[in-house]
Amino acid sequence: TDRYAVFGNPIAHSKSPAIHQRFAEQTQQALTYEALLAPVDQFAESFQQFLQQQGRGANVTVPFKQEAFALAEQLTPRAQRAGAVNTLWQDAQGVVHGDTTDGIGLVRDLIHNHNLSLKDKRILILGAGGAVRGVIEPILAEHPAQLVIANRTLSKAQELVPLFAEFGSISACGFDELEGQQFDLVINGTAASLAGELPPLPDQLLAQGAACYDMMYGKAQTVFNRWAVAHGAVQAIDGLGMLVEQAAEAFQIWRGVKPNTQLVIAELRAALN
Ligand code: ATR
Repeated sequence: TDRYAVFGNPIAHSKSPAIHQRFAEQTQQALTYEALLAPVDQFAESFQQFLQQQGRGANVTVPFKQEAFALAEQLTPRAQRAGAVNTLWQDAQGVVHGDTTDGIGLVRDLIHNHNLSLKDKRILILGAGGAVRGVIEPILAEHPAQLVIANRTLSKAQELVPLFAEFGSISACGFDELEGQQFDLVINGTAASLAGELPPLPDQLLAQGAACYDMMYGKAQTVFNRWAVAHGAVQAIDGLGMLVEQAAEAFQIWRGVKPNTQLVIAELRAALN
């Protein structure tokens, strides 16, 4: 059987094996999917070894997304621009391809699972790290009125602007410049919530009817989503759906069939509680 895996460090708590096994059952694909711990300095070696042992494709998570980008011989345009790869596969000629499915996963979750349109919306993204780079292009493809990237380190947000300017209206600012601005959708892509922290946000940031999205998720509501509800957000969504949707996009790339994500999201949600 074809072998797939997710590489990360740490990796023990990854939900990807459970997600892909459910996808495989649903679509009757004969495959295995396991979590593989690679030493932090040996991702490339671990992946090559996996390919030699019937590995067909892999997902890549923290801290290997940049190394996966470097390792891929052929990149999709969106992975090229994101500078990160979360999905790898080897074709019949032996060429290793790399793509990033995080951004499309986020956009699908917003649009299909939460009924949100991004068109003509004022969108704010908090953070400018690896997690954010991957989602900018798919968001701009939905034609928002504007996309603002706010980051603690202003220069990192500014660096992203010329990379994506051809796709739509994108600008950068520091958190201190958010005062007086309002948004219809605010997406938290900072690592702050991992530490239970919150970027400094003005009280009037959310427009009437605004939605908030945290790329993180957990058993309890995230700090950012608690802030969102307290400041009038009509929806405060966590990143569980994004996780399943990015997996589904990878599964489709590998196997050519699209699994039912909503069933799997509901199962994972139930298991969290
Ligand atoms: P990832 O791949 O998860 O995006 P990263 O590339 O290290 O990780 O980026 C982390 C992001 O979270 C950055 O935007 C970082 O801000 P800086 O660029 O200023 O470092 C942001 N971040 C981390 N901790 C934060 C905090 N306590 N408050 C605000 N932003 C924070």
